[in-house]
Amino acid sequence: MNAAPHSRTLILGIDTSCDDTGVGVVELAGGRVRVLANRVWSQTVHAQYGGVMPELASREHVERIDAVMADALAEAGVTVDELGAVAATSGPGLVGALLVGLMYGKGVAQALGVPFHATHHLEGHIFAAASEAELAPPFLALVVSGGHTHLFDVPHEGEYVLVGATKDDAAGEAFDKIARLSGLGYPGGPAIAEAALTGNADAVPFKEPLQGQKGFDFSFSGLKTAALLAHRAGASAPDLAASFQKAAVHTLVKTTRRAAEATGRDTVVVSGGVAANRALREAFAGTGLRVVFPGRGLNTDNGAMIALAGAAAITAGRAPGTLAEGAEAYAPLAALAPQA
Ligand code: KG4
Ligand code: ZN
Repeated sequence: MNAAPHSRTLILGIDTSCDDTGVGVVELAGGRVRVLANRVWSQTVHAQYGGVMPELASREHVERIDAVMADALAEAGVTVDELGAVAATSGPGLVGALLVGLMYGKGVAQALGVPFHATHHLEGHIFAAASEAELAPPFLALVVSGGHTHLFDVPHEGEYVLVGATKDDAAGEAFDKIARLSGLGYPGGPAIAEAALTGNADAVPFKEPLQGQKGFDFSFSGLKTAALLAHRAGASAPDLAASFQKAAVHTLVKTTRRAAEATGRDTVVVSGGVAANRALREAFAGTGLRVVFPGRGLNTDNGAMIALAGAAAITAGRAPGTLAEGAEAYAPLAALAPQA
């Protein structure tokens, strides 16, 4: 479906890939997008287990999705029959959890007789930034979340070349684990950022990961081990938080800047939960690159970002998927580009 320049399409977006039930509504009008609603139910049932329990996540999505959908429609001020397209995450993620939102989205699309777009979770994270600025390839996209640290080159619409990724932990995972070991709680990212405000960022020396590499990969396990040793040696939580945050921000910004130089891209999208980090935003602002971050509430998992990716697919004239598309636990957005 190719949207006519002056048409207005309301797109429903659903994400149930992990432990957040997200439903959003986006308006696509005259080639421009606007987020009308973004409702997320964050599951708390997992906290007692110290990690996400897949089966509990699926059940809670089933219990919550109707209410989250009703809230999203109310926030957008629209009725369900006004929706013109549906996008839902098909992967990657927890299969049982994904299936809930995917089937729900297909059901809505079929009932309304509107196109259905099975959407990649990372494409959602990237297009979350379309809430803030027009996003037209070519650009680089750094997705930094609890499950991903991926750097893509996006030379053309719908084409993703993975130029770098973490070799071990995701960036957000490192924030979470270091917060836990220093007793700062969960989720670790916001807790580290808060504690860092009163800490000395030079108190704990961290060695730069993968220093001197020719490629654009990331690694956080060394920082994690160094943090554990510093904690045992008596480093305070604020000092550890400030020093780790400085090291993590440095490696993310330096590697992305090198990739921008190597590819000649001057626009960089930085998205995913860790993109909410203020120190990271400030460091990227100092690079001279055009850096686009998602708007408030669109960094961590949500449904509006999936609707925004759906809007991009519609604008590009990509054919909608069929209702036969299944959920994929492992779904690479792109193959790793051969490294020079
Ligand atoms: O995108 P997201 O909701 O989940 C995945 O798809 O993985 O990201 C969640 C991650 C968590 O690891 C959380 O600690 C991190 O994003 N995060 C942050 C901040 N806010 C959330 N990390 C650093 N600074 C923040 N302000
Ligand atoms: Zn995510």
